[in-house]
Amino acid sequence: MTDNTATTTKLKNLHVITWGCQMNVYDSARMEDVLRPLGYRPVSQVEHADMVILNTCHIRERATEKVFSELGLLKKIREDRLAQGHERMVIAVAGCVAQAEGAEIIQRAPYVDIVLGPQTYHRLPEMVARAARAGGHVIETDFPVDMKFDFLPTEAAPQTPENLSAFLTIQEGCDKFCSFCVVPYTRGAESSRSVASILSEARQMARHGVRELTLLGQNVNAYHGLDAQGASADLPQLVRALSRIEGIARIRYTTSHPRDVTQSLIDAHRDEAALMPFLHLPVQSGSDRVLKAMNRGHTADEYRDIIRRFRAARPDIAISSDFIVGHPGETDDDFEATLALIRDIGFAQAYTFKYSPRPGTPASAADFQVDEAVKDARLQIVQKLIRAQQDAFNGALVGRDVAVLLTHKGRKPGQVVGRSPYQQPVIIDAPEHMIGRIVTVRILHTLTNSLAGELIRETICA
Ligand code: 5AD
Ligand code: SF4
Repeated sequence: MTDNTATTTKLKNLHVITWGCQMNVYDSARMEDVLRPLGYRPVSQVEHADMVILNTCHIRERATEKVFSELGLLKKIREDRLAQGHERMVIAVAGCVAQAEGAEIIQRAPYVDIVLGPQTYHRLPEMVARAARAGGHVIETDFPVDMKFDFLPTEAAPQTPENLSAFLTIQEGCDKFCSFCVVPYTRGAESSRSVASILSEARQMARHGVRELTLLGQNVNAYHGLDAQGASADLPQLVRALSRIEGIARIRYTTSHPRDVTQSLIDAHRDEAALMPFLHLPVQSGSDRVLKAMNRGHTADEYRDIIRRFRAARPDIAISSDFIVGHPGETDDDFEATLALIRDIGFAQAYTFKYSPRPGTPASAADFQVDEAVKDARLQIVQKLIRAQQDAFNGALVGRDVAVLLTHKGRKPGQVVGRSPYQQPVIIDAPEHMIGRIVTVRILHTLTNSLAGELIRETICA
């Protein structure tokens, strides 16, 4: 049988540069999928690309400046390629910076061909065609009512090289409007995919060898997708349905919001063996005053209580979080309250950030911005405390047997790397053919950000 697309479509090279969260990693893979029928195939070197997509993130500081500096480099590469006789390289800017700064991008970098927001990726082929026809700019930054996922193909193998652990976006957007955050403006309102479309993608992933699924969403535990009966299904219901798919042994989800934690989600951690004992639940601050100013909708004690209930259901669950230091108005006492919360909970890991203003968010216009030097000092203190807790959590596993999903070769010959249920990378000596298996590993010692262990059994511990 001949492949018609290969004979009629000229092959072109696509290079996608991805910044930011796992949802962007997932979206980049979907953009590659959607452009494949047009003859685009991914290449690793930008110099060889006929089209480049910058999939941008707006959450970190100076995000916009990084995009413009990358665009400057691309302009130069395009000129070099033209001088070598290649066709004009198509330059597209996608993601949250595109959503937030679409007009500014075209104004400051008029050589950009396409600007597209995160809700419009399924329309990319049409935009490429329009850009080629018109020779002008195509800007698509609206929030269409059609859910992009229902129009994006997922024909290709999942994005991880080993095809064992893959991301699956189930929910997008956020209605929470935390004072400091751009996401509600760039990703739009919360919306969930239907159960059927998620199950069909997950089955396809399982057929490609995926054993571990990480469900993604800005507010993943706000998930409420339609099921086959037209009723609304929540995250624990979805997890139960996914865990029945043959081959799917492990399920994770990120990122959750304390306000959307339900007892049934907590119970699922007790009842569903496939649901891994790891919870990333950002709290941002331990001070009720700051939590209120942040518009988080919960208190520090409510957060403590949620964690207590998770631990009652699943005592070994690893707790991870995000913290911001130096939110406008944060005093020394507020910061002390954050340290007290961290000491009370005992985190397995956490991400810590210095507050940085995002134009258009309420906190950026607030009085009492905290001095940069104070923020720096607080960040150091909080990071030291978290590091000590992470070391303690990892250290407590030494001598214990854990189930490890082996996912890829290690750096040294004879080594294989996998993940513990608690998300830590675990390095063992084992033959390569064991990749893809879940085995029992005894933890021997800790490394900076991983664990070293030895293979105990080729099956998992009961
Ligand atoms: N300043 C600092 N950190 C921020 N985050 C989001 N917006 C900001 C900001 N303006 C952090 C939050 C969030 C994580 C993804 O990024 O902690 O949970
Ligand atoms: Fe941003 Fe808050 Fe929504 Fe998280 S919950 S995405 S921090 S607005």
